[in-house]
Amino acid sequence: MFKMRYNFPHMETARYSALQLKLERLLDVAALITAERDLDKLLELILKTAVDLTEADAGSIYVREGEKLFFRVALNRTLSRRDKTALTTNFGRSVSIPMDEHSIAGFVAKNRRLLNIPDAYAIPDDRPYRHNRDFDRASNYECRSMLLSPMTDHRGEVAGVIQIINARYRPDKAKWEPFNEEDERLITSLSSLAGTAITRSRLIQELYETYKLVMTRMALAVEQRESDPDTFVHIYRIADYAAAVARRMGLDEDFVRYLKDAAPMHDIGKQCIPDAILFKPGRLTPEEFEVVKKHTIYGSSLFAGMEEPIAKFAYNITRYHHERFDGGGYPDGLKGRDIPLEARIVSVVDVFDALATDRVYKKAMPLERCLAILNEGAGSQFDPEVVAAFMEVLDEILLIREHYERKKREGASC
Ligand SMILES: [Fe+2]
Ligand SMILES: [Fe+2]
Repeated sequence: MFKMRYNFPHMETARYSALQLKLERLLDVAALITAERDLDKLLELILKTAVDLTEADAGSIYVREGEKLFFRVALNRTLSRRDKTALTTNFGRSVSIPMDEHSIAGFVAKNRRLLNIPDAYAIPDDRPYRHNRDFDRASNYECRSMLLSPMTDHRGEVAGVIQIINARYRPDKAKWEPFNEEDERLITSLSSLAGTAITRSRLIQELYETYKLVMTRMALAVEQRESDPDTFVHIYRIADYAAAVARRMGLDEDFVRYLKDAAPMHDIGKQCIPDAILFKPGRLTPEEFEVVKKHTIYGSSLFAGMEEPIAKFAYNITRYHHERFDGGGYPDGLKGRDIPLEARIVSVVDVFDALATDRVYKKAMPLERCLAILNEGAGSQFDPEVVAAFMEVLDEILLIREHYERKKREGASC
């Protein structure tokens, strides 16, 4: 990777080399920060980098929403030595402060400037802000030296504030050193990179939510073509079933999220199947069945060529949820693990839900019979590992089913 060369003529060689290493580390991390899409992971990466680069003991990040700053992540090496779980804590959106000059972080965001406080317990009286010692008292930890920087994005908007606490400890003086000019320079560089990355990640998140909403509404529109009120609950229910099975299989949270958000689309291609065939009472002719099979092609064509992970999941689920593990399914006759895992999971939960639910035209099968059908199909129609995971989370599946039954009785929309 390209290495940055800074020229600091008055700096002695050892310090110059240390700074050079830190700048190189910052450049290496820059690529990771720019690539990270998940806001929580991004904030943790920024904070860890800031604390490492300045050799600080602790830090936290506030993210701006409107005129408020939300306390999002914190890291404290001393406290984490006392309690292993305290290394990084995600506070969600639980703690916020107004973006005004009465708090230190608020002052930094409002004035868009770096603030280096040598000792937060000795802030001069003429400053508008005070150090709130509630956290210090609650944790038996003193936040003394502080370095705060606004994280400004590419539009010049403050996306958040980074706060680094307690620079290097001086055992001879039994106190924390203040942050120095070099720390200021490093945090300023990191902050401008971080601000743009935070805004970008939030825009991606908003886009994702909008995308999901539109797709779910489209899937609902398809299900609502049927007069049965249960059909639209079906898409939410199988999303929850699929997520439970995937977690049991040890798949990571990203996989679970994309699977859950894309599963409702599985039959979106039915929008293109004529009513006369889709709602025909009785058996379909072979020709009609060929038309129904095409819902997998129509549905997946909506997502073809799209790069977003959720679109790839939606493509695989719409196209392959009728494939069979033994290769006898449609539309492509894929076999075994050639069928994407997300589709193998949806296949099991979709069939279970169809069997286990009352519909206008049929009664639900008894649970034992539904489970027997899944077990009999393991290895032929279904992936046996998915069926096994399903059986292991059966209690959870039944709770999900009960949850939606209750909602239906209460007449609530999902
Ligand atoms: Fe289908
Ligand atoms: Fe379905």
